[in-house]
Amino acid sequence: MNEIYKDKTKSANERAKDLLSRMTVPEKAAQMLQLPYSKMPRENAISWAEKGLGSFLHVLGDDARELQQTALKTRLGIPVIFGIDAIHGHGLNDTATIFPSQLAAACSWNRELIEQMGRVTAREVATDGLHWTFSPVLCLGRDARWGRVNETFGEDPYLAGELGVSIIKGYQGDSLSSEESILACAKHYLGYGEAVGARDSCDTEMTFRKAREVFLPPFKKAAEAGCATFMTAYGSIDSSPFTASEKALRHILKDEFGFEGFVVTDWDNVTSLVTNQHVAADMKEATYLAVKAGNDMIMTSEGFYNAAIKLIEEKKLDEKLLDDAVLRILRIKFQMGLFEQSEKKGKPGCFGCEEHLEINKELARESVVLLKNNGILPIKSKRIAVIGPNADDIRAQYGDWTYFTHPEPDNGSEPKRPYCTVLEGMRELAGEYGAEIFYSKGCSVLGKDDAELADADFKEAVKLAGECDAVVLVVGDVIEQTGETKDRADLSLSGAQNALFKQIKGLGKPVVTVLVSSKPLCIPEIAEDTDALLIAFNGGMFGGLAAAEAIYGKINPSGRLPISFPRHSGQIPVYYNSLPGWHGGKYMDLPGEALFTFGEGLAYTEYEYSGIEFDEKNFVLSVNVKNTGNMDGAETVQVYYRDLVSSVLTPVLQLIAFEKVKIGAGETKTVTFQLKKDDFALVTPDERRVVEPGAFEVMAGHCAKAESLLKVEFVI
Ligand code: BGC
Repeated sequence: MNEIYKDKTKSANERAKDLLSRMTVPEKAAQMLQLPYSKMPRENAISWAEKGLGSFLHVLGDDARELQQTALKTRLGIPVIFGIDAIHGHGLNDTATIFPSQLAAACSWNRELIEQMGRVTAREVATDGLHWTFSPVLCLGRDARWGRVNETFGEDPYLAGELGVSIIKGYQGDSLSSEESILACAKHYLGYGEAVGARDSCDTEMTFRKAREVFLPPFKKAAEAGCATFMTAYGSIDSSPFTASEKALRHILKDEFGFEGFVVTDWDNVTSLVTNQHVAADMKEATYLAVKAGNDMIMTSEGFYNAAIKLIEEKKLDEKLLDDAVLRILRIKFQMGLFEQSEKKGKPGCFGCEEHLEINKELARESVVLLKNNGILPIKSKRIAVIGPNADDIRAQYGDWTYFTHPEPDNGSEPKRPYCTVLEGMRELAGEYGAEIFYSKGCSVLGKDDAELADADFKEAVKLAGECDAVVLVVGDVIEQTGETKDRADLSLSGAQNALFKQIKGLGKPVVTVLVSSKPLCIPEIAEDTDALLIAFNGGMFGGLAAAEAIYGKINPSGRLPISFPRHSGQIPVYYNSLPGWHGGKYMDLPGEALFTFGEGLAYTEYEYSGIEFDEKNFVLSVNVKNTGNMDGAETVQVYYRDLVSSVLTPVLQLIAFEKVKIGAGETKTVTFQLKKDDFALVTPDERRVVEPGAFEVMAGHCAKAESLLKVEFVI
């Protein structure tokens, strides 16, 4: 028979169909399975490769090569694809470029830089012989107690969708077959961040209407941008597991959004239908539910293999469903060119190379957010005390998903590429600014919280502060407090960090506080009393350098918050695009507003907005923005809208466009946005997206605070 699948001149789809027609049921079941190399004996992995396994995850270098050679020698020689969690850079490899976390990167609001972050990561992953990253996370970070907020692009669906598409473009490039392209994976589909009480993987109380309004839009954009794979979420929607949701996977993602790639489950989701969620009695039932719902590749649920074969033998599962899944997987493998060349070359020597580090530095710089400055910054003091547990802790600065956190526990790896903590950055630049830097750690993040009990380190730090002209205090969280299974009930600063701040502030010295943390923490006292506040989140290799550059005024901070800061854990949720109707609009024991709101971020200059105009026939909005200071800067112009009367409750404000614009000192720029009618749509109770006639407000300004927005009312 003519072997079409070997013919390079045929399309990926034709080749995949031909190959599929030659496969046995066990070969199809194996193709649908993905197993974790890091968690199994090598011999088992080899024997799975001999059965024609579709994919391995968490395998690097020569081990991957050996598995691939085994797979290529099987009857049909279908190449394996290797997946890895390259979440902010190819972080599980200790020579790779470690970028700011997704949340930190989102502070840049810079689509181009985030695309470049994706490109660099893809190049390094491909050079390692791997094909696929389980990134980006398109879940929203609406409850900061959730352990994985650091992995999100923040709380807003529009921003998450825009930045998601940027990084997907970076990962996948113009063509999946390029040497430097890898597969992206939009995850976790769907609503993972919305679990009740921010309890990782729990049920979400949302409906599909709500999903369509808030949680699906970033995923829709990802599908439209050609994201090759999607990963299902652990949780459930209104008590139905996402992994078993035919509506979410088959109907919405595949049929409605036209997604042609393949869906992978999250870790052991199929087994979990039996063991955790109790919606299936055994693996056969779980496999039936998962395949019927539209999962194409099954991550780590080994029992799927026998169960799928049995179900087909017993005629309890339609083989056409397996065929659809396998076709999708094979098509991607053909599109990647793996049948011609199973290992991409990438760009040898590119790990942490100069070009990659420069892009990383640029992103780190744009990710620093200045939230308060009473005039102390840029710093002029000459004797500066750098104090605090996160001033010189590269593990805390990196955050989750690097060789420090995976595999767990940290096996004592040390960075093999340059990096810079806040302390090092302050020291590195001190000469240029005629400053002298002194350091004391003061306390640890996980230590005792009582200042009275605080030890010699604490006292030494306070003494040092007293001897200097100003203090840079670096506080935050550490990797033990962030990531999967690390949801926090209490987001206040742990250990003696608050006590340290109070004692130092009590000395009457100016204090610049830098937050190096995985996510927003509740720091109302610090926000009130500190002289300046910088948010550096998990800034990657150069997060510390970027913070130091901002402190000295070498850069003009341009980061904006992609997520709101609660004053207290009990104030959560505090996302800006809430629904109206809360009697009193606040808890009686807290101010109504978030401590800091979505979009906020200061600079060493101010931006004045004027002359908003909206052409309601063509949906074109323009606004003038003047840099009134004497330093060049970059302003992120944000466009929001509000539906004044709607048949269902609609958010008090919703972002629909933004542009980051460089504006020179004293310069005015007119910024224009082409909006579209659909931007003003709502989702009806029967899940239709419609634009209801009536009055709307469209607004432009600096952040999601009403007082910083200019507005125009118009009628559709
Ligand atoms: C996480 C995913 C990750 C996968 C593979 C899961 O526990 O939820 O985000 O990609 O493991 O490591």
